[in-house]
Amino acid sequence: MCGIIGYAGRREAGPVVVGGLKKLEYRGYDSFGFAISGSKIAVYKKNGRISDFNESEFSANGSLGIGHTRWATHGVPDDKNAHPHMDCSGKIAIVHNGIIENYAELRKELISEGHIFTSDTDSEIIAHLLEKYYDGDLLSAVTKTTEFLDGAYAILALCEDEKRIVAARQSSPLVLGIGDGEIFASSDITPMLEYTQKVIFLEDGDIVSFDKSSLLIMNAGKEVSRESELIDWDIDAARKGGFDHFMLKEIYEEPDVFYNAFYFEPEEEFVSKIRDADEITVVGCGTSYHAGLIFRYLMEEYAGMPVRVEIASEASYFKPRPGSFIIAVSQSGETADTLAVLRQAKSAGCTTMAVTNVCGSSITRVADYSLFMRAGPEISVAATKSFIAQVAVFMRLVDELSDKTLSESFTGIHRVIEECLMVDVDAAVSMCKGAKNLFFIGRGAYYPVSLEGALKLKEITYIHAEGYPAGELKHGPFSLLDEDTPVVAVCPEHDSRALMISNIREIKSRGSPVIALGGAGDIDLEEIADVFIPLPKAPESGDIITSSVILQLLAYRTAVAMGRDVDKPRNLAKSVTVV
Ligand code: AGP
Repeated sequence: MCGIIGYAGRREAGPVVVGGLKKLEYRGYDSFGFAISGSKIAVYKKNGRISDFNESEFSANGSLGIGHTRWATHGVPDDKNAHPHMDCSGKIAIVHNGIIENYAELRKELISEGHIFTSDTDSEIIAHLLEKYYDGDLLSAVTKTTEFLDGAYAILALCEDEKRIVAARQSSPLVLGIGDGEIFASSDITPMLEYTQKVIFLEDGDIVSFDKSSLLIMNAGKEVSRESELIDWDIDAARKGGFDHFMLKEIYEEPDVFYNAFYFEPEEEFVSKIRDADEITVVGCGTSYHAGLIFRYLMEEYAGMPVRVEIASEASYFKPRPGSFIIAVSQSGETADTLAVLRQAKSAGCTTMAVTNVCGSSITRVADYSLFMRAGPEISVAATKSFIAQVAVFMRLVDELSDKTLSESFTGIHRVIEECLMVDVDAAVSMCKGAKNLFFIGRGAYYPVSLEGALKLKEITYIHAEGYPAGELKHGPFSLLDEDTPVVAVCPEHDSRALMISNIREIKSRGSPVIALGGAGDIDLEEIADVFIPLPKAPESGDIITSSVILQLLAYRTAVAMGRDVDKPRNLAKSVTVV
């Protein structure tokens, strides 16, 4: 997820574009750049954050400009991979948000036709395609170019010989702001709110040509008109996309996040190394550790391969053996505990792989291989969409190491996750918010799902919650059960259901109320539970995702009900860079 902005109007474009990028920084912030069209197109781009940009470093006059703040998915964050990207002539500049799935073949073809590439990104191919098809009309060049693009894009293009911006939208958001003698285009409304509240949300297939006073919207070769809307959000609400908190916004992104993270082609090189390794060990902290535990259960079930999973801060007490394949999982890619054990494994001669959300993060510079979650920036301290993305990446790896049953069954998962977002958890919230202590229990892969559910609740509500193997509670913790200690039981239609039902009966007989997540038609479970939360019907192992999403919503809504600082819980940091 990146942020793009375009401006055509009566003001100097530079300050408008730079100011807009600062408001879009939450969408991606590893590098930034902009192009201002005056007598020529002047471009500035740099690795680092727009908030560190010093206006004295660059100035260019012109009333047309485009800008980009990056969340890298292809090509590490550095100056050359920052947007805007130019064609060979330096007369065309583009910024892009999205992923061009067929960029490799297009790049190869363009290079064979003599185009010189200066970056490792997928986006740069757009600039060279525009150069190839430009015949004096930027709008027709953009229209022709989009015919060759597979994937998601929101593009803004400038050409030195034309005093307009041309934009195109497919699957990535793009909105226009209609001001007084000025027009804006951006990934969302945040950069334009200080200038205008009149916006037009573009639709897939829209190709737009605009200057400061004229606007033309085309779609499928025909001119179309789009209704404008008046927006009364403030900037903060706009950055959250109208959601009350980033955490909820990020949970609502999970249908797309799962899909983007799951459907990728793992490189055969590291897949075969995993397959041939003497031992596979996953290391991580917190939520990332829980994702690793889910990987362990799925590898056992589908691939028949044992996986060791260690809490990173503890793993350093076990000597890594050469011949092991070490997978370090870290959303931020900067967690000191995880980096420490990864470096130890590397120096011991192990093959190492990073699973992370941040291109260019420290973990990617240590590991031999990197797998990216492509979840976009996660602003809220509590990990939600990044967890779903980690599980998705691991499920894809399991699929690759087994007989691919998961990928066949997961095609409809997007809609199933969307259904989870509508599930009513209010009764469970009422029970949780009054509790002092809770247990979360599950069996098999639903045990780490319970661990993660407990972590989510405790870290944002400050209520003590503990994840526990359902079969283990009777070995001591039963003494803690009473009417003030609710138990959340994750009990989907799974081999473990019968044993879970008997565990729930044992728990109920000791006085604890039970909140049960289970199959929508499970009347026995619904009967014995004090609160029953139905899981939407999911494909095989999809209940791992649906139950996780619902437990995230349970934690979120409980924290809101308690008036907690949901996005910035006390004592916590988004990335723990100390051991
Ligand atoms: C999870 O909600 C927490 N924010 C925390 O446990 C986090 O998962 C842990 O610190 C690991 O972070 P990482 O994935 O960036 O390495």
